[in-house]
Amino acid sequence: MLKLTGLKKINISIFISGTGSNLKNLIIHSFKKNSKFKITLIITNNPKAKGLNFAKKFKIEKRIINYSNIKNAEKKILLELKKNKVNLICLAGFMKILSKNFIKNFKGKIINIHPSLLPKYKGLNTHQRAMNNREKYSGCTVHYVNSKLDSGKIILQKKVRILKNDTFNSLNKRVLKHEHIIYPKALKKVLSNL
Ligand code: GRF
Repeated sequence: MLKLTGLKKINISIFISGTGSNLKNLIIHSFKKNSKFKITLIITNNPKAKGLNFAKKFKIEKRIINYSNIKNAEKKILLELKKNKVNLICLAGFMKILSKNFIKNFKGKIINIHPSLLPKYKGLNTHQRAMNNREKYSGCTVHYVNSKLDSGKIILQKKVRILKNDTFNSLNKRVLKHEHIIYPKALKKVLSNL
């Protein structure tokens, strides 16, 4: 059971595949005085993920999972999560889709950050698609993960105006800043509901 009892912190595992700016940001938040969570394990499918440097820098356990066979990969991940007593999973730029079976094992205990105003623009290249469609806004959403891609219950969302001269890079950079604000806020909300 996921119960916050007394002063015990919730153990979180963060899954990444790339840069890891959200990972770094959540690690920094976990060090704050009243933080109710601890990041105990970093999982990646990508041995070259830049974000792995934060594992070393902040002395956090990491596991690089070979994804050539999804079933085996997820089996290994579940084992590692169990070993490390992980209570909650935060996806942060993890580029693999978790199977129904995996999600069932962690029902209601996986959250994700997605760079769009869900339910609009599920999947990839969200900002580019929003710009191509001449949307006024893009943004980011933290949501629970269920078995349908980018479709779980929304926890928090932030609208970001698309400017006239925006490129993918400029918009992405601006939205990322908001991701770094809403992910810890959403996490706080999730933890307060446990
Ligand atoms: C972010 O844009 C996030 O919304 C998406 O993947 C990107 C990860 O960025 N899911 P980073 O690796 O945290 O810098």
